[in-house]
Amino acid sequence: MRALDFHDFSQHADMLSLPGGHRVTVRFVEPADAGALQAYVRALSQTSRYNRFFGATAALPPGELEKSIHSGEHNLFTVIAVTRIDGFESIVGEARYQIDPSTDRFEFGLSVSDHWQGHGLGRALLSNLECRAAALGARSVFGDTLRSNAAMIGLAARSGYDFSPTPDDWKTVRFEKPVDPAPETIPCSGWRHAAQTFDAAPLH
Ligand SMILES: CC(C)(COP(=O)(O)OP(=O)(O)OC[C@H]1O[C@@H](n2cnc3c(N)ncnc32)[C@H](O)[C@@H]1OP(=O)(O)O)[C@@H](O)C(=O)NCCC(=O)NCCS
Repeated sequence: MRALDFHDFSQHADMLSLPGGHRVTVRFVEPADAGALQAYVRALSQTSRYNRFFGATAALPPGELEKSIHSGEHNLFTVIAVTRIDGFESIVGEARYQIDPSTDRFEFGLSVSDHWQGHGLGRALLSNLECRAAALGARSVFGDTLRSNAAMIGLAARSGYDFSPTPDDWKTVRFEKPVDPAPETIPCSGWRHAAQTFDAAPLH
């Protein structure tokens, strides 16, 4: 598997429909999103930021922000969930994922803005990540979360993940799930198109 070389991120978007009728677009972060992504992270509650980044941080460090806006480098991708609020595109969630080509395992972390939590966006975003993992040829998806993070543990349990201790980190727990190689029922047509376009990995 080779690193992807993206020329136009805008065409690789997925539309997610949430239980309450809201529709949210998931697309790759572009360099022009840097300010909005940082504003999104700053606006998260202290608890959400702590749970997302495993520590007290007010914002993304410059190096992390830089990595986020260059999706595809080192097999590392950042996506944002966006919707229009009062006529303006607003970020309501984000996820970062990386595939390890030597193991075909797909690691991710995600967050949903506090105002949107509890309305099904986390679940929809997680399903979308599983589909992206399948499109990249991953065999399993996993993440680590603080043992105190009831929402993430609840989301992972609800989504069929198995739990195990994180190697070398007693504060976190690992959740992992095999990837369905034929996720037709999961909405990620935009990403499947991207994987085909750039020949990232064989589609099953
Ligand atoms: C974890 C997080 C992404 C969940 O997103 P969300 O949009 O609130 O989750 P959803 O509304 O889709 O809920 C899906 C399921 O998760 C579980 N869940 C959600 N919030 C929960 C909570 N506070 N306690 C226990 N379970 C919870 C439920 O099983 C729920 O399904 P149900 O409503 O059918 O019972 C969100 O709370 C978040 O961004 N937290 C801060 C950042 C973070 O912790 N990231 C994880 C780091 S890996």
